[in-house]
Amino acid sequence: MPKYFKIIALALLLNGSVFAQDTLKSYANKIPMNIGACVDSNFYQNNQAYITVLNREFNTVVCQNEMKADALEPTQGVFTFTTADKLVAYAQQNNMKIRGHTLVWYNQNPSWLANGNWTRTTLLAAMKEHISGVLGHYKGKIFEWDVVNEAFDDSGAGARRSCFWQNVIGDDYVDSAFTYAHQADPAALLFYNDYSTCTINAKSTAIYTMIKALLANRVPINGIGFQSHQQVSDSSASLYANMKVNFDRFAALGIKLSITELDVRMLLPSTQTQLNAQAYVYKVFMQLALAEPSCRTFMMWGFTDKYSWIPSTFPGQGAALIYDENYQPKPAYTALFDVLKTPLAVAPPPFAGPSVAAHGAARLSFDNLSNSVVVRGGKTAHPVHLEMFDLRGSKIAEAYVPGDCRVPVSSFGVAQGTYILRAEGNGAMMRMHTTK
Ligand code: G3I
Repeated sequence: MPKYFKIIALALLLNGSVFAQDTLKSYANKIPMNIGACVDSNFYQNNQAYITVLNREFNTVVCQNEMKADALEPTQGVFTFTTADKLVAYAQQNNMKIRGHTLVWYNQNPSWLANGNWTRTTLLAAMKEHISGVLGHYKGKIFEWDVVNEAFDDSGAGARRSCFWQNVIGDDYVDSAFTYAHQADPAALLFYNDYSTCTINAKSTAIYTMIKALLANRVPINGIGFQSHQQVSDSSASLYANMKVNFDRFAALGIKLSITELDVRMLLPSTQTQLNAQAYVYKVFMQLALAEPSCRTFMMWGFTDKYSWIPSTFPGQGAALIYDENYQPKPAYTALFDVLKTPLAVAPPPFAGPSVAAHGAARLSFDNLSNSVVVRGGKTAHPVHLEMFDLRGSKIAEAYVPGDCRVPVSSFGVAQGTYILRAEGNGAMMRMHTTK
């Protein structure tokens, strides 16, 4: 090989151009953002094409069905973790994080639970046993859980869904589920998850009101999951603005926002116009996630059209995901890729401070009454590193505080306004509006 070829080859090798491949995962890791898809053990076992894309593009997975109550506790008090454990092992081997889905839902329950002859007391005990059994088993392995799923109905009135949890226990079954989950795994982030909630409507407003009350009552809830089962007809020019105002009000509560089950369905056969409209919807969701510092988990309900719940549930519709049935990327993939490649300037730079392992995971909330930041968790032996950013993503203050404390905003020496606050390496982030 001529000498100058060797020099060019060495130069390419050194700057990573030869082997490093830009993917959704490589860009998401830089933000950092959790990006992933739901999987099922049938999909990734002995399916090399599937595995190649999964491992190349994503850093996070969630079970499509295998962590639901019917799968994990088919007989009361008897837990069957074997299948779900395989996914946990697979994710760990491939350096992926795991979302947990789902603990308390009206659907996919074993018949002993769905058809039991319950009183409020016995059903709460069964709920506690299920949550403790599952979270105890996966303690430290699953970073965030959908604790309660779909507690509101589709009446358009923002009413609670009629189901055995609601009918036997009452509204506060939600409070109990979060409390039991926090007791079982204090470090896991705990989410309320639902669909048709991305814009302001009766359902999202009812959920907003519920979460606000839960927080006021010190119920340990950390976030809202926007399932985001969309359609190409959602691709209006006002989609971003309509979602932003809704996401902002949830972010102002000081909780995390996760996109948990995004897909964008269309009538089959797909047309180029539909695929472009679909790409636009995916793009808007990613732009919105990046614009919200508290939204750093972006999950799709699958990634290849080969495996999707849509065709069996909505006959005649499908093609909802970012790869086609032959694992070829669609315009929707390119849309996500392009947005991730040049994220908005509002995203603060990657954290460069001490690791969570050294300092413990802290959680943040804002107390309007005392104009203080509330830090929960963290190891008291080590200070928690807080960083404050303005809305353009520039760092304007930082502080080291003990775990489990209140920090008056005045101690940061900043003027009244809206800021983004971040705690150490676990990415706990919130947007807050100081009152003084
Ligand atoms: O396990 C049985 C199997 O034994 C049987 O042979 C087969 C025959 O149809 O059915 C299997 O159960 C199916 C199950 O998925 C597991 O494959 C159910 O029929 C089917 O209804 C179920 O669908 C799941 C659906 O939740 C149930 O509501 C979908 O795969 C799953 O993608 C979907 O996921 C939900 C989220 O959990 C919550 N948000 C909405 C989302 C889409 O509906």
